[in-house]
Amino acid sequence: MAGNITFTMIKPYAVKNGKAGSIIAKIIESGFRIIAMKLTHLSKADAEYFYSIHKGRPFYESLVDFMSSGPVFVAILEKENAVADYRKIIGNTDPKKAEEGTIRKLFAESVQANAVHGSDSDENAEWESNYFFSHRERFPAKS
Ligand code: CMP
Repeated sequence: MAGNITFTMIKPYAVKNGKAGSIIAKIIESGFRIIAMKLTHLSKADAEYFYSIHKGRPFYESLVDFMSSGPVFVAILEKENAVADYRKIIGNTDPKKAEEGTIRKLFAESVQANAVHGSDSDENAEWESNYFFSHRERFPAKS
């Protein structure tokens, strides 16, 4: 059964360029509830750990440097079928291939600076949420 949370991160370039407010508005207008959110700055070790699945790929070092280059917003989003529905509204990893109206089409600069991260499975949504948020920082619908 599909889970009801996903994890997102608004990446450094989008935060630096003042896009966070518009991205958050689009998330809410698309029917997601923000149940946890904060502004934080990933250390290099945080970024290495978060993206460890990509270790060894040609873009890994550069991705780690980029993701630790400035503040990011991290958030847990709640909605039925959250992982798949969020991936629909963010669009393709490469903004050039992203569909019209998607967050990456509207706000991304490149494959690396692609505005937002979104979990790719329920398991990763849990793991990523747990990496950044304690239970007392979360406000699900029933609370
Ligand atoms: P994200 O959804 O955060 O998950 C992994 C990230 O790696 C991805 O978005 C991209 O920013 C980055 N990425 C994936 N493929 C490439 C690539 N070919 N070149 C550069 N960065 C990439």
